[in-house]
Amino acid sequence: MIDYLKADENYIKSHLDTQFMGKPLYIFDTVSSTFDKIAEFPRAEGLTVIARRQTNGRGRLGRNWASDDGGIYMSFNLTPSLSPKDASELTIPCALGVAKALESYGNCKIKWPNDIVLNGKKICGILSTMGITDGKTDYVCVGIGINTNQTEFIDLPNASSIRILTGNKCDENHIICKILENIEKEYISDKKAILEQYKKHCLTLGSVVTVHYCDGREDFSGECIDITDSGLLVVKNGDNTVYVSSGEVSVRGLYGYI
Ligand code: BTN
Repeated sequence: MIDYLKADENYIKSHLDTQFMGKPLYIFDTVSSTFDKIAEFPRAEGLTVIARRQTNGRGRLGRNWASDDGGIYMSFNLTPSLSPKDASELTIPCALGVAKALESYGNCKIKWPNDIVLNGKKICGILSTMGITDGKTDYVCVGIGINTNQTEFIDLPNASSIRILTGNKCDENHIICKILENIEKEYISDKKAILEQYKKHCLTLGSVVTVHYCDGREDFSGECIDITDSGLLVVKNGDNTVYVSSGEVSVRGLYGYI
């Protein structure tokens, strides 16, 4: 039974306070993935697709993203004039925007690279894809899955929802507006200032992590001592300093491999 306020296109359109994010915005009941659905539209900056369910939700490192009723699944386009390398760093302002949008629900932090953790549990994941022509970025498509009103997670011990963690159903319209507004604010801000704030929100920084490579290289543990301007995690491994890129590892810290 659905007993919470579900995303409503008209409500969001009349309340959203942004220049370009969510303009236009389309909401669907069920899609394979919002990444597939948004590909049917022009790659215009800010164009946003939201679904109430996905049948083939995709996560980082080739994993599935559980996409049942109760969550919000969104993708939007950004069209920055950036090289593909720089454009790949856009998940930094996006993660910061989401963390700020959700901080009224509890202790909301970022687990590097872009998991959003509320009171110690993962409630949101971010993944981006990119269109490149002749070495230039045509668009970046950011996908965000937010666990809002689910009441259980089977076989996902580190996942939770805002509803489970706060004990209250949450209003999806309010959350969608907040997220789009906060992401826009961070996206147009100064890159250096964003990174400083990202670091302040990042619970991985300063903690001991285990780095698990997906390509068979040996795992190692060490203290995370910094995050570089391009978003690499800097981990002390004995006398060595290792620069870790998000595409090739999962990082286990306090909250497991989430
Ligand atoms: C992660 O693994 O943490 C990233 C998860 C990203 C999930 C979102 S849900 C909306 C968009 N569509 C998808 O298929 N995946 C992303």
